[in-house]
Amino acid sequence: MAAASKAVTRDVERLRDQIRYHEHRYYVLDDPEVSDAEFDRLMNELKRLEAAHPELVTPDSPTRRVGGKPREGFTKVRHSSPMLSLDNAYNEDELRAWEKRVRELAGRDGLEYVCELKLDGMSLALTYENGALLRGVTRGDGSIGEEVTANVRTVRSVPLSLSAATLKKARLPEKFEVRGEIIMPIKAFERMNEDRERQNLSKFANPRNAAAGAVRVLDPNITALRRLDFYAYFLLVNGRVAGQEHWEDLEQLAAAGFKVNPRRRLAKNFDEILEFIREWEAKRESLPYEIDGIVVKVNRVALWPELGFTGKAPRWAIAYKYAARSGMTTVEDIRVQVGRTGKLTPVAWLAPVPIGGTTVSRATLHNMDEIERLGVEIGDRVVVERGGDVIPKVVRVESKGRSRRRFEMPSRCPECGGHVVRVEGESDHRCVNANCPAKLRESILHFASRGVMNIEGMGDALVNQLAERGLVKNVADIYRLDKAKLLTLERMGEKSAQNVLDEIEASKKLPLDRVIYGLGIRFVGERTAELLAEHFGSIKALMEAKQEELEEVPEVGPRVSAAIREFFGEARNVKLVEALQEAGLRMRGEKKQRGTKLAGKTFVLTGTLERHTRDEARKLIEDAGGKVSGSVSKKTDYVIAGSEAGSKLDKARELGVAVIGEKEMEEMLG
Ligand code: IVH
Repeated sequence: MAAASKAVTRDVERLRDQIRYHEHRYYVLDDPEVSDAEFDRLMNELKRLEAAHPELVTPDSPTRRVGGKPREGFTKVRHSSPMLSLDNAYNEDELRAWEKRVRELAGRDGLEYVCELKLDGMSLALTYENGALLRGVTRGDGSIGEEVTANVRTVRSVPLSLSAATLKKARLPEKFEVRGEIIMPIKAFERMNEDRERQNLSKFANPRNAAAGAVRVLDPNITALRRLDFYAYFLLVNGRVAGQEHWEDLEQLAAAGFKVNPRRRLAKNFDEILEFIREWEAKRESLPYEIDGIVVKVNRVALWPELGFTGKAPRWAIAYKYAARSGMTTVEDIRVQVGRTGKLTPVAWLAPVPIGGTTVSRATLHNMDEIERLGVEIGDRVVVERGGDVIPKVVRVESKGRSRRRFEMPSRCPECGGHVVRVEGESDHRCVNANCPAKLRESILHFASRGVMNIEGMGDALVNQLAERGLVKNVADIYRLDKAKLLTLERMGEKSAQNVLDEIEASKKLPLDRVIYGLGIRFVGERTAELLAEHFGSIKALMEAKQEELEEVPEVGPRVSAAIREFFGEARNVKLVEALQEAGLRMRGEKKQRGTKLAGKTFVLTGTLERHTRDEARKLIEDAGGKVSGSVSKKTDYVIAGSEAGSKLDKARELGVAVIGEKEMEEMLG
């Protein structure tokens, strides 16, 4: 490869600066200047140049956020100074008592307080050296946390590096630490749970658990899919809070390019603190993320050591906690809802109760196991909680109803009368009728949803009517709709009908992986659909693939391959695909040209490789026709071990599997 000319080096640097600027506008300031397409164009251009000139790649390049290698565990790291927790105040009196004590201990009145939203996430410490992100560490027990740098790098609002000019402008030394909260916005949380539901995975209870889970997964590629966000609230230099005033520190962090919550206030007295608390209590529901209260901090940092601690929490700050969003009500009935896969979900019908600004009259009970765990029966008084999830849930029985009645799962589907079965070892009951109208409705909603075929306007109201009137009997029928048919529906005018038709038309241009995803094959989520499309290059090849061939696709195991075979084993589904093809949907994609050098060979990667990330190595192997598996077994041909290889190496030795290094891998690739 020719050494990069000066001009290319300049181009690469200029592109990186542009991308960093736009990332900051978009992810930190929520105020983008260019379209997504323009942003993608810049990013692709940079990727192209870096691919042509690998010697120009630097670890802080915007292209390097994702693509770290899965790890086998996390390293424990001691914090530069303990990450403290906060004492709570649950009402105005407790808050007033805290503020009075602060004034007494400080020996004066007229103090200023910084009010911030208390984001419900997980606190995190970021260390920067030479202006570049060196380490991200979880709070852990406050003294020692876990190093999760590769995962944190995928969070777009975390700057990977700060230029010398930025450091200067923000008056920052080259070494500093930023502490703040990592969160999952509610939208991202809902999308993630929808996705998990489609893949038959268990859902996360709330955005905080989901964020904490995403920060602590071993594979950074998974964190990257989770759309986490990071809000900074402390600046430390040499393990100590940096400035004179906390408010100024926040402004300094913002000037350095960190995301600092703009919803903050410098309160001049107690009443202004209360005002801020009341204001956000009322507007809490409109925030894009969950908060559980307000943090109040004494602005003057010099007072902090004087104020001292109560146990583990500092006296200079307090968390005012909003009342949990729960309420008490009566279960009037328990009814069953049928989902796309035929799953029957018991739902509690409640006497309407206001919780956190909305009226709740339904709560999910998930399945029979959950009903038994709660011991809930019709007529009971229950506590209902609303988390970030749209669907409220029953958390416990408060008191048993006088004339309570047990709920039993029906043996016939309430929608179609089909047989209901509970598969051995599963907690779910399912309707087995393939033509159950509820399944039809749900499968159309899935197909049309955002992230799948993205047919805007095709929501509950429209789909219900289309299904009820028999206008749509399967997803291919969507493409047989015309204006005359649509105009027979309620609340459908000329203009909305045209909009729907335009949306349907536009969906035909979506790539093959969306079509595969849209079919609603069990266990085939967004990512699996992508891998399948890439591997087979056409729906025809996918339909004809034998189980062993399917399992050559990364991440496809026996469970998924069996589900795919089962799906295409049904004549009905084959017909459906044909109809979609006729309608003009994309049935071909770009097949990745794979070599044959490593065909039939299975590799396992372990430890840290020197010249490639694990992801790169995996791609190289797969492009040469090899397969990469996550665990060592008798079927493994080679284990490629880097430094600090752990249990997989031991397993390979135990089973007598060949162990090679990165060099030998490269030689095999030629
Ligand atoms: S200050 C001593 N500020 O709340 C300082 N914490 O209950 C402690 N949190 O562990 C942190 N938003 O995870 C601070 N604006 C904010 C916060 C915040 C959320 C979380 C943080 C902390 C917990 C304390």
